[in-house]
Amino acid sequence: DEAALQAYFDAVIAADQKIEPRDWMPEAYRRTLIRQIAQHAHSEIIGMQPEGNWITRAPSLKRKAILLAKVQDEAGHGLYLYAAAETLGITREELVDLLISGRQKYSSIFNYPTLSWADVGAIGWLVDGAAIVNQVPLCRCSYGPYARAMIRVCKEESFHQRQGYEIMHVLGNGTPAQRAMAQDALNRWWYPSLAMFGPPDADSTHSAQSMAWKIKRFSNDELRQRFVDMCVDQVKALNLTLPDDGLRWNDERGHHDYTEPDFDELMDVVRGNGPCNRQRMAHRKAAHDNGAWVREAAAAYAAKKTSAKET
Ligand code: 3HC
Repeated sequence: DEAALQAYFDAVIAADQKIEPRDWMPEAYRRTLIRQIAQHAHSEIIGMQPEGNWITRAPSLKRKAILLAKVQDEAGHGLYLYAAAETLGITREELVDLLISGRQKYSSIFNYPTLSWADVGAIGWLVDGAAIVNQVPLCRCSYGPYARAMIRVCKEESFHQRQGYEIMHVLGNGTPAQRAMAQDALNRWWYPSLAMFGPPDADSTHSAQSMAWKIKRFSNDELRQRFVDMCVDQVKALNLTLPDDGLRWNDERGHHDYTEPDFDELMDVVRGNGPCNRQRMAHRKAAHDNGAWVREAAAAYAAKKTSAKET
């Protein structure tokens, strides 16, 4: 009966074991996982646009090859995560429709423009760096398929973060013009990267329940703090400065005090009013429409193969 199933589910979570697709799970657990994994997958796919914008304008063949590999990785992460979401009983078609109709979202961070080549460095260093801070704990998420997908994704994110950091290192230690370009990109991407971790814990609608179900292992503010502490060390080698005069070590806390991102801006961007929301969605919808013939051809081929088998 339901009570026994709930008790078994609770025991598996309490024992830090994994819930698998065929296990009984509370409907709300299924729903919040579909919400989060779908949003994560949509983010990977939409996230290809800002960086993809620079593939044809990379400053060298080496940088073009690296950026191509990274953008292709993001597509793979998206497909990996859609596959994880499908194990919860929702189809790929429904997920794509939910994104394109605006009923499901993607990460706020991808609604900002990439204005110079240094933005590719800032995104790799900061956005992929923040993604690693957020995704390493997700490797221990209680839902098996999501946790396992994260293990592969995190390995590739490390390469993404490293290549971005190296771009910033070259520019930050390069000519004055290069250094100015890198500092400008850092100034524009710093606070949106902090906002990526979500609203403050006090305003987080899902954190308490997600942490009780061991989906979320650390709160939004804990991970944001961890990211700030990490970047304060990393920025030293870049000959650049983090755009926050409030940054200072707090011996009592054992962390850096820092200026919070603008959370009203975060929610405004999430509601669709960021600098590039319309452009990102129009591009995604056009890609879906332009790909209709491929889906039709694949379906026709599959139908032909099935009917050939039946005759
Ligand atoms: N962008 C868009 N929406 C956001 C957001 C953000 N940065 N932060 C929070 N939200 C939304 C939440 O989805 C929720 O809205 P909803 O109920 O309509 O879904 C609301 O704001 C309240 O936030 P909560 O803290 O209560 O929501 P969560 O518990 O889901 O925490 C999260 C937010 C930490 C982003 C969590 O969803 C998460 O860890 N997601 C998985 C990681 C992820 O999606 N990362 C996005 C970037 S992917 C990426 O960076 C790819 C890399 O290759 C660059």
